[in-house]
Amino acid sequence: MTTPEPSSLNRRAFLKTSGVAVGASALSGIALPKVFAQGSDRLQIALIGCGGRGTGAAVNALGQIGSPKLVAMADVFQAKLDRSYNSIKAKFQDQVDVPEERRFIGFDGYKHAIDCLKKGDIAIFTTPLAFRWVHFQYAIEKGIHVFMEKPVTADGPTSRRMLELGKKASEKNLKVGVGLMSRHSHAMQELHSRIQDGEIGDITFMRGYRMQGVIGSAFSEPWPGEPNELLWQISRFHSFLWASGGAFSDFYIHHVDHLCWLKNSWPVKCQGVGGRTVRTAPGGKPYVDQNFDSYSVEYTFEDGAKLFLDGRCMNGALPLYSSYAHGTKGMAVVSKNGDCGRPSSTYKGQSPTKDNLLWTSPDPKIADDPYFNEWEDLMSAIRNDKPYNEVERGVMASLVTSMGRYATHTAQEVTLNEMLNHEHEYAPDADKLTMDSPAPVKADSKGLYPVPEPGIKTKREY
Ligand SMILES: NC(=O)c1ccc[n+]([C@@H]2O[C@H](COP(=O)([O-])OP(=O)(O)OC[C@H]3O[C@@H](n4cnc5c(N)ncnc54)[C@H](O)[C@@H]3O)[C@@H](O)[C@H]2O)c1
Repeated sequence: MTTPEPSSLNRRAFLKTSGVAVGASALSGIALPKVFAQGSDRLQIALIGCGGRGTGAAVNALGQIGSPKLVAMADVFQAKLDRSYNSIKAKFQDQVDVPEERRFIGFDGYKHAIDCLKKGDIAIFTTPLAFRWVHFQYAIEKGIHVFMEKPVTADGPTSRRMLELGKKASEKNLKVGVGLMSRHSHAMQELHSRIQDGEIGDITFMRGYRMQGVIGSAFSEPWPGEPNELLWQISRFHSFLWASGGAFSDFYIHHVDHLCWLKNSWPVKCQGVGGRTVRTAPGGKPYVDQNFDSYSVEYTFEDGAKLFLDGRCMNGALPLYSSYAHGTKGMAVVSKNGDCGRPSSTYKGQSPTKDNLLWTSPDPKIADDPYFNEWEDLMSAIRNDKPYNEVERGVMASLVTSMGRYATHTAQEVTLNEMLNHEHEYAPDADKLTMDSPAPVKADSKGLYPVPEPGIKTKREY
């Protein structure tokens, strides 16, 4: 797999906007120790959370310059780890060196996997988000660079904790990538650059849609009794706010993130409406998860500009999966299809017609895989010892997404500050869980979990 070097324009745009400045500005003028893998310049990787994305991220990592090696893996399910190992090994025979003794099962597996690394190696965190801060904290302690998937938090307390951890990582000169890959799409980077240069004027409103059928583990029937309730909830993480922030956080964060990036700011407040039509599965069992099936959130920025975000998990309804920005001079199709699907394009006026077209990103067939690019950028920062820390923007995107979910679930207006300073932690003691721990949310006698009740539960989501 090859990806061309980004054009210098794109590279400049990336440096200007990608958030690498977080680490750089905070620490300018201070000489930091270089953190390179000791004893070898061949980077070693540990994969923690060996599901679909973890396997994909490892493949992206192993495809980078220098032929990094996968040396350790951890999961809470043996079958997941085995499947992931076989899949990665089939693609990168010579770069996978994970004998049985470096495959770890259990909630402490992350420690053992990280302990297999040398300072300056890389850990990949692709479990559901509840464990991000736990794993990140240990990687920082051990001097390990990190790639972690989005979202990174679902609540106020862990957002505050992750912001602090992000600063610590920069203080130790660790490089941290967060899987908000839209910002690494070269097409979207050029769009960002054009918007900063005023091509569509000042942004006044934006729209994001992710409306689809029921996907992932968003809807769950009652716990079948095995595996234990904790492991079952983890295996159906989209259903539980403690594990993932629910369908809202997991599915809609990319649109929140890339639209706020184009606007160069985060909204200060929001309000939303939503609900759930279907609470009974086709076979007659109740759905017991904590999600709504429809969400519509109005975010407001400091300057009064709006971001409207619509999300839906409903079979039979109109599918829409795209995003748009509207400015005083024109508009942009940001993602034509998907989280950051090309082409991105700009138009004069407010209609995306052929006649109004100002610019469109290069042919979608030209290689521009943001999942590969985000690794290229992280690895390049490690090799060249450049400041690189995407944690702050990862936390802010997660927090703004949580704010939309919270506002809809409670039917209240919520400010960013209120969300950040909220005291409800959804997975307290995530660092102490063992294979036998009780699950963070318990079912009632009918097998039902607490769900949001807008207008009734107004101070907490559940
Ligand atoms: N950037 C993207 O476009 C993108 C796409 C898909 C998923 N993701 C993110 O990646 C993460 C994983 O999603 P997925 O689709 O791969 O889910 P998945 O269920 O396929 O994988 C998660 C894996 O983590 C394991 N796990 C859970 N808790 C663990 C723990 N404490 N220690 C070790 N392993 C643990 C699970 O057993 C599972 O194998 C989520 O945060 C998701 O939002 C991002």
